[in-house]
Amino acid sequence: DYTAEPFLPDGEAGLAALREAAAGCRGCPLHVDATQTVFGSGDAGARVMLLGEQPGDQEDKRGEPFVGPAGRILDEALEEAGIDPAQSYVTNAVKHFKFGYASGGRGKRRIHKAPGLREITACGPWLRAELALVRPEVIVVLGATAGKALFGSSFRVTRERGSLIEQDVHGRHERVVATIHPSAVLRADDREAVRAGLVSDLEVAAGALR
Ligand code: URA
Ligand code: SF4
Repeated sequence: DYTAEPFLPDGEAGLAALREAAAGCRGCPLHVDATQTVFGSGDAGARVMLLGEQPGDQEDKRGEPFVGPAGRILDEALEEAGIDPAQSYVTNAVKHFKFGYASGGRGKRRIHKAPGLREITACGPWLRAELALVRPEVIVVLGATAGKALFGSSFRVTRERGSLIEQDVHGRHERVVATIHPSAVLRADDREAVRAGLVSDLEVAAGALR
């Protein structure tokens, strides 16, 4: 099975050392075609951890999470919900961009592909290391992939969203609020309603801060 485990630093490592080690991860095949590892961003004292799926096209090129279109939706929604981005650590369940190429049209356009359970599992050791260091008061799960990374493949956003979940996750007691992935707002016909739903779930997370 694929796993990032052998690439994690030995002993106690801070976020900077983890990030450096993750840059060399070859724990699953996704590192082959992607530009670079996109590790989490923010500081170890962050109160909220925002957990996305995987880097997108722009994140892959720039090496930072949520700096593309989904990131703009997320930032606006966070602000509206009263969560300070400076108090947030932002990361993804999978740290390399998984994509295919669009057929036809001009040039080669890279199209996001959802990571599978194998890749989510392989990348899990990085996420667990981030959680152990940041120890957020609340984890915000953004979409199905992030939920599966914490709770396994039976996780359903529609069932779990918008309420505070207190549960053991990989041996740690965690407080989690799930919501949709911000890119769902971009794809929706009824954008404003979908966006309002995202904001109201984020408000639950804001309310769960001690
Ligand atoms: N979508 C994600 O899930 N994460 C990113 O970093 C960007 C887009
Ligand atoms: Fe390693 Fe995760 Fe990248 Fe796979 S996706 S190579 S496990 S960092």
